[in-house]
Amino acid sequence: MGKFQVMDHPLIQHKLTIIRNKNCGTKVFREVVNEITMLMAYDVARDMPLEDVEIETPIAKMTAKQLAGRKVAVVPILRAGIGMVDGFLQLIPAAKVGHIGMYRDEETLEPHEYFLKLPEDIGSRQVFVVDPMLATGGSAIMAIDALKKHGATNLKFVCLVAAPEGVKALQDKHPDLDIYTAALDDHLNEDGYIVPGLGDAGDRLFGTK
Ligand code: PRP
Ligand code: URA
Repeated sequence: MGKFQVMDHPLIQHKLTIIRNKNCGTKVFREVVNEITMLMAYDVARDMPLEDVEIETPIAKMTAKQLAGRKVAVVPILRAGIGMVDGFLQLIPAAKVGHIGMYRDEETLEPHEYFLKLPEDIGSRQVFVVDPMLATGGSAIMAIDALKKHGATNLKFVCLVAAPEGVKALQDKHPDLDIYTAALDDHLNEDGYIVPGLGDAGDRLFGTK
């Protein structure tokens, strides 16, 4: 079974409260999503492999550590996942970025894929799939399905707010997947929104609706 981790560092919890507040405007929402993602990325990258490298400091020769060549891809689920890309790139600037376009039918809550563009060598990369919201889990399940179909094997899913229903559905379909969230909320309402959640993440990030 993959890892499931609620990243409840005080700084993350404080910043999450700022964006949950309905009075938080687009500018601050965007900035704080970026800050939370950066804090999460720092810890999500904790098990990236290291290798030895011989260097000389001004004082002496030493064997030091550097990241071992595993390449990284960040894959946002459009639209809202876009808000989490820069937080990763600020820490891992050489990462490539793939995109998966997915929208939820507002009636059926079924996800629909409308766009997919991935780095060619996705199969050899550590892939961080990012989307602020894990609600029913439908979008994340379909995104991970598509990534596996294109050869990705080393996958981690990173979100800001998750519903228990979505976590269970994603774990049932992809038991090998590591899932990281800043908060595990209470439940989904009848419209498929996370309660208490933060509303529609895409609309709040981009100022639509
Ligand atoms: C939101 C969110 C997730 C999805 C989660 O996207 O960003 O992708 O819903 O819901 P699920 O777990 O029930 O699938 P939405 O479909 O609203 O599209 P948007 O990002 O373009 O606003
Ligand atoms: N998508 C969102 O943006 N918010 C929710 O609460 C559920 C799905």
